[in-house]
Amino acid sequence: MNIAIDTDPGHDDALAILFALAHDDITVEQITTVAGNATLENTTKNAGTILALAERSDIPLAAGCDRPLDRALETAQVHGDDGLDGLDREIDPVPAEKNGIEALASTAATGATIITLGPLTNIATAIDQYPAQMQQAQEIISMGGALTSPGNQNRVAEYNLYVDPDAAATVIESEIKTTLVPLDPCNDIMFRPADIEDLEDATIGRDLRSMLEAYHANINRFLDVDGALLYDAAAMFTLVGDDHIEKEPHDIVVETEGTYTRGMLVPEQRPYVDPEHNTDIVTRIDTKPCEQTLKQTLRRC
Ligand code: BDR
Ligand code: CA
Repeated sequence: MNIAIDTDPGHDDALAILFALAHDDITVEQITTVAGNATLENTTKNAGTILALAERSDIPLAAGCDRPLDRALETAQVHGDDGLDGLDREIDPVPAEKNGIEALASTAATGATIITLGPLTNIATAIDQYPAQMQQAQEIISMGGALTSPGNQNRVAEYNLYVDPDAAATVIESEIKTTLVPLDPCNDIMFRPADIEDLEDATIGRDLRSMLEAYHANINRFLDVDGALLYDAAAMFTLVGDDHIEKEPHDIVVETEGTYTRGMLVPEQRPYVDPEHNTDIVTRIDTKPCEQTLKQTLRRC
């Protein structure tokens, strides 16, 4: 499967990228970065660092939007100020181009699948500027939203949709086939301390361990969960884990205003309304097979 990854690394983004690079059935054609977990400068540096760690300077990397469409950027807490808390050595990042939106559109035009791991600002911008090319994407698969589980940014919204709800609404309303991987099936998928130790077999095991230990500590502090949550890596697993996932068609809108509900997914549930299915939502990812596959593949990095 040929993919473009749009991302805001972020620890779980980093694992998702490394997993995709190491998996035999996935070919990464392009990586684009967006402001989200950290500033665009930092998410781009972090994506370049991941590529350097993986020794994959052959993968084109390009920076996209440095702020949400219509509001100020709110960075995340759990990844630390620079987005990759815990990485304790300087690594020369693979350099990035500045034409992220154009690069996304060109990759979409080849029929690639676009997987998004951050706010949807780049994708919405590309749909606006290059509608014909974006229309040729196989599918857009996005880690984002909370369907019935509580939010992780406010009571009801997941971080990526909260940060740029206008962009998320544009993508969901577009004609392009979209699939959301929300918090619901990802909430139990994590690496615990023993899993983090197991990753030390990897060539970059020491770096993985120092990053994941810092991330785990932050998750524990801010979300009261005892493990390194793998949201974006779990979303990447859905590309290859057909036997271990379940999807439902939905008629969904995103709340773009809302005093308490900005970024909320609002499904059509009225029994007397004919739903217009505009997105698939992943409702189940089998926890253990997902964690095992992620771990086994990442140990090859
Ligand atoms: C999402 O928010 C970010 O902090 C993570 O990288 C993930 O993409 C989870 O809500
Ligand atoms: Ca992310």
